Amino acid sequence: MYVNGEWILSNSGEYFTVNNPSTKEVVAKVPKANAEETKAAITGASDALKKWSLLTAEQRAKYMLKLRDLMLEYTEELATIMSMEMGKAYNEAKGEVVYAASFLTWYAEEGKRIYGETIPASAENKRLFVIKQPVGVVAAITPWNFPLAMMTRKLGPAMAAGCTGIVKPASQTPLTALAFAKLADMAEIPKGVINIVAGSTKAISDELFNNSAIKKISFTGSTNVGKELVRQSANQLKKLSLELGGHAPYIVFEDADIEKAVEGVVASKFRNAGQTCVCANRIYVHKNIKEEFAKLFVEKVKELKVGNSLAEGVDIGPLVNESGLEKVKEHVEDAVEKGAKVLYGGAEVKDASGYFYIPTILDNVTEEMKIMQEETFGPVAPITIFETDDKAIDAANNTEYGLASYIYTKDISRAVKASEALNFGIVGLNDAMPGVAQAPFGGMKESGYGREGGHQGIRDYLEEKYISLGL
Ligand code: SIN
Repeated sequence: MYVNGEWILSNSGEYFTVNNPSTKEVVAKVPKANAEETKAAITGASDALKKWSLLTAEQRAKYMLKLRDLMLEYTEELATIMSMEMGKAYNEAKGEVVYAASFLTWYAEEGKRIYGETIPASAENKRLFVIKQPVGVVAAITPWNFPLAMMTRKLGPAMAAGCTGIVKPASQTPLTALAFAKLADMAEIPKGVINIVAGSTKAISDELFNNSAIKKISFTGSTNVGKELVRQSANQLKKLSLELGGHAPYIVFEDADIEKAVEGVVASKFRNAGQTCVCANRIYVHKNIKEEFAKLFVEKVKELKVGNSLAEGVDIGPLVNESGLEKVKEHVEDAVEKGAKVLYGGAEVKDASGYFYIPTILDNVTEEMKIMQEETFGPVAPITIFETDDKAIDAANNTEYGLASYIYTKDISRAVKASEALNFGIVGLNDAMPGVAQAPFGGMKESGYGREGGHQGIRDYLEEKYISLGL
């Protein structure tokens, strides 16, 4: 692990294994961090904070851009590691490196715009100011599905704001995080600014939540874990931001450009083998265009190549592990039992070396099926029909989730009304790929709180201090 600028082993001598979901083979053994190493990382980050927080925004930006340049220089290595440990198709993994780097580029600049305020005083002999300061040492608990981009989406604003941090990567994907730390080392990021501890989730997170030096925790992961973290954060009233599950509706209105809508749904649904929080999970298509939409959708999905994530030309790699595959199977079986029709796929890949499922399209799906109630996190596209705009919006909003939603229409009034009516933090309007560094990403309802990306994404890493000056 990478603690206070040093590569260290676990004090307990324990390791955990990382498996390649394409082959089920062991990729690496990683030293297992516990509370002790986490404490050392927090001490390192606290010491580093004293100097890092006092650098100018330009100085911090230089370090961040050097790290960004190294990430881009080592795109192929990072993509290979990511692909091997979590099964992301290699070309997509390369895309994630570029996406991840964009958060460092954007926040290196945004750090220069952390403006304060002056407030008109009511007394002649007073002057009132608001300044913004880094919150301090922060922790990032990152997910396996975007092991690099979710790290820089948190560390980018944190570093730019003048904070130092501890990253606890998902146990499935410590290697991408450690490779990133190697690049941080090469970029000569001062020791202690970035620390990576992978290992016992409970021991690490207990230490992060109970150690008073940690001032903010940013978590991306499941809603259930997010709720538990809210309870844990109460003890010390730690600042929390939570990017949790999603269950995105994808509404295709009667007047939509069907080709664009199909192109979008293929990109959104099958990105990362369907393992994204923002991917289209519930596809609502107007009844008059459903046949045409479904026909084209099947044609496009037939072209997708499933296979070992590192193999040439593969579009869809494996699910991350056995339980991921089991959930997909369970959702499809439940839907079929309740009357859904398989238009394409509907089974795991036979005699496969890893956790592969054929990209699947289901028709005649109804709201009571599990697939419409829970996040599948797999390559299955359930289609259901609607007749009126209101019915589509009501069905789309009928979920405890509120992360991303999608609308396809050419009618500007319908587009505006539907965008306003959807209770989701993100609306992709004729756009299936809304995530970019400069825009706020985050959810409503049980999809969490706080925003990452954009100028909004740096707020949570800053404290506002009011200074009243008597002359
Ligand atoms: C996610 O699924 O959590 C991230 C997807 C994105 O940033 O586009």
